[in-house]
Amino acid sequence: MIYPIVKYGDPVLEKQAATVSEFDTPELHTLLEDMFESMYAARGVGLAAPQIGISKRIAVIDVSTGEDPEAKLVLINPEIIKVEGVQSSEEGCLSIPGFRENVNRGKKVTVRAQNAKGEFWEQTGEDLLARAFQHETDHLHGKLYITHVSALKRDLIRRKIKKLVKDGEWK
Ligand code: NI
Repeated sequence: MIYPIVKYGDPVLEKQAATVSEFDTPELHTLLEDMFESMYAARGVGLAAPQIGISKRIAVIDVSTGEDPEAKLVLINPEIIKVEGVQSSEEGCLSIPGFRENVNRGKKVTVRAQNAKGEFWEQTGEDLLARAFQHETDHLHGKLYITHVSALKRDLIRRKIKKLVKDGEWK
């Protein structure tokens, strides 16, 4: 099932998501399948559960956009445990469509997370994958990428979105 993506302005995007404690349930497997399906439909490389209105620490990532089955990653209760170097490039978010900003992120990042069975895994990613690890982990702490840009740019984005809301073009 393809879920609609929750847009900026919905409080679910800015609250701490709940830690997952039940694994390997049919509900969890279905949710993960639906999250991948919703992410591919929206042409994203990552999707966090709050973006479909579910406040749980679950995210999916596929920086190959469906090309490489091994690139499909399930991150449950993820934590960034190591950050090396800095990269700067444009970043966007499915919940803030139409906007992109330059964001500084770690260049090489190690994440520790659980899979659908509750098993812990660790992976070190660079560049886009490192960016996705950080962006999606941030989502699960209620933090959007625009909190990493200057206050001036953030206010500009907020003002533009306010106008889109007013015009009925943001839902
Ligand atoms: Ni996002």
